[in-house]
Amino acid sequence: MATQRIAILGAGDIGATLGGKWAAAGHSVVFGVRNPESEKVAALRDRLGDQVKVTTMVESLVDSDVVLLAVTGQAVPDLADQFGASFNGRIVIDATNQRFKGAAETTGEWGEQVTLNSVGVLRKSAPEATLVRAFHHYSWEIFADPQFGDRRPDLFYCGPDDDAQRVVDELIEQIGVRPVRVGDVDQTEAVDHLLELWASLSIFQNRGRSNVAFAMLER
Ligand SMILES: NC(=O)c1ccc[n+]([C@@H]2O[C@H](COP(=O)([O-])OP(=O)(O)OC[C@H]3O[C@@H](n4cnc5c(N)ncnc54)[C@H](OP(=O)(O)O)[C@@H]3O)[C@@H](O)[C@H]2O)c1
Repeated sequence: MATQRIAILGAGDIGATLGGKWAAAGHSVVFGVRNPESEKVAALRDRLGDQVKVTTMVESLVDSDVVLLAVTGQAVPDLADQFGASFNGRIVIDATNQRFKGAAETTGEWGEQVTLNSVGVLRKSAPEATLVRAFHHYSWEIFADPQFGDRRPDLFYCGPDDDAQRVVDELIEQIGVRPVRVGDVDQTEAVDHLLELWASLSIFQNRGRSNVAFAMLER
């Protein structure tokens, strides 16, 4: 297994869940946050201990091979402006959605159709980054505990089919889900729609955020 140096921008539910698993798998994980001294960060340090570092966003990017974007979707344009140059030459995984946290649960509706991913914004700010769209269509609860009896979910993602695919496939495997590459990032809309399907089944039909995931049948 190759050890990756992973910078995770955002240390909320999704960032902390994925980062904790990657650190446990032996990767070097650094969280980049707005305020490294906040109470939330102190709680994260208590939870994940010395296996991860937490610093500023700019610091976290310095020695990274892979960047996971795990901030609110609304924050991405500013971060892309600020850090786009640092994303160049790195694998940048967009796990963000242009949704307000908890809105679907509160309103019981999906709401306005918008582009969920930030691939277009990232492409402009970081033309030399290797962009990947992944980890956006399940809840963090699924990533925390992905086992469904003796089966595990498929994770549908988009990105190039080169060396980066091997890195991304391994990172996905280490979360405990099976990577299914759907195409390059021009196919991102296809994997974005899976979030809506997941929300319909898990949230609007009350099956529960931990209880719904997908697997592909093939022959
Ligand atoms: N939760 C899920 O189940 C899930 C699953 C898949 C994908 N996602 C996507 O992943 C992203 C993060 O979700 P989450 O549930 O982890 O959210 P969260 O728990 O609310 O954490 C959000 C993180 O983004 C940071 N942030 C917010 N606004 C920022 C800004 N303007 N500049 C820099 N950082 C900012 C927050 O920092 P502070 O602590 O400083 O506020 C926090 O670290 C979202 O785009 C979401 O759609 C979530």
